[in-house]
Amino acid sequence: MEKKFKFIDLFCGLGGFHVALSRLGGTCVFASDIDPNCRQVYKDNFGLEPHGDITKVNEKDIPAHDVLCAGFPCQAFSKAGKREGMTDPRGTLFFDIIRIVQLHKPAYLMLENVRNLVGHDEGNTWRVVKEHLHALGYVFPDEPIIFSPHLLGIPQFRERVFILCQRKDVARRNLQIKTPLTKPECHAEQILLESDSKTPDISRYTLSGKELEVLDLWNEFIQGIKAPLPTFPVWTEEFAAGKRRVSLDNLPAWKRNIILHNRALYEKNKVFIDAWLKKCAKCDVFTGSKAKLEWQSGENAKPDMWENILQFRPSGVRVKRPTYFPALVAITQTSIVGKLRRRLTPRETARLQSFPDTYKLHPNDRIAYRQLGNSVNVEVVRFFAQQLLKRVA
Ligand SMILES: C[S@@+](CC[C@H](N)C(=O)[O-])C[C@H]1O[C@@H](n2cnc3c(N)ncnc32)[C@H](O)[C@@H]1O
Repeated sequence: MEKKFKFIDLFCGLGGFHVALSRLGGTCVFASDIDPNCRQVYKDNFGLEPHGDITKVNEKDIPAHDVLCAGFPCQAFSKAGKREGMTDPRGTLFFDIIRIVQLHKPAYLMLENVRNLVGHDEGNTWRVVKEHLHALGYVFPDEPIIFSPHLLGIPQFRERVFILCQRKDVARRNLQIKTPLTKPECHAEQILLESDSKTPDISRYTLSGKELEVLDLWNEFIQGIKAPLPTFPVWTEEFAAGKRRVSLDNLPAWKRNIILHNRALYEKNKVFIDAWLKKCAKCDVFTGSKAKLEWQSGENAKPDMWENILQFRPSGVRVKRPTYFPALVAITQTSIVGKLRRRLTPRETARLQSFPDTYKLHPNDRIAYRQLGNSVNVEVVRFFAQQLLKRVA
């Protein structure tokens, strides 16, 4: 970065853009977030009080700036949301960005959204975004940049689309945003707090007795069945249903397929599974989603639940190799570090988003997890900003 520059942080959340850009010499001159908890944490960390609802802010009241950052709300575009895109009022927040750009014409725009922005509405949403930015005189790579922190060696898989724009008159024609050619190795351990950590209440994150019981039962299962490990969803209720030969005629193909796999697994391991099911029946919480397993560590992996990253998800107990964590989502699905038999702490979660340990998190865990789940990864922003902002106007 050659010069000092000014930036604004729209939909600022915890300020992932702020941390990255201030490290590169930027000064934040305006921030906004509708959520009072975000505004409070932002102020505690940066000494700058964000404005509230952006739809109520007159663009003329925003100071001049060189870079506009916006990780605009993704619910409208996300696969998990209703997928109403530009017709959803939250989708139209994109047009608040547009009206601010129209007036201020900053040299650079750094926009971030969920991956699904690109595929939404058969590509129409992406087309609308591109058309508006082009019409305002911005250039950016035609192909959307889809990127995840694990590509920088940060152990989180979180694919997001980045729209990195230069105003035509400052644009370097040959700017090519480079992404790493080789995938660095990631390991969950990278972000774990030391056991002698100063976190006084780390025991709060330890699994409950019932959760341990469920996971131990699954451990017994994967160690007891004949190889290979099942990479299809294991649905224990199908073992019993298989015995009754419930008809599969009216089921969709994908479901029928899973059930047939489960029945075959049962047939192959009948004696072991029958004995194991008797034990499961004694565990009152081994029901619903806890009685389902999604082993995603590979069919030849070491059969040990506790060597992996685990998650209690509505679709079942998910098991992944301890390379990188799945994207942060709902608090109830906070990743579990198998070998520590506990969930990630908010501080470790902040490390997954590359916030420094000096960053002051919200004291309420539930709020802190949610804010971190919404935030942008700091190192990813820095990685792109270093390439984009070579010559700030
Ligand atoms: C995806 S998050 C962005 C997170 C941010 N980039 C970070 O690093 O933490 C979207 C944010 O937009 C905020 N938001 C939603 N509607 C808004 C509005 N009308 N005005 C201002 N902020 C809004 C939400 O509260 C949320 O914090």
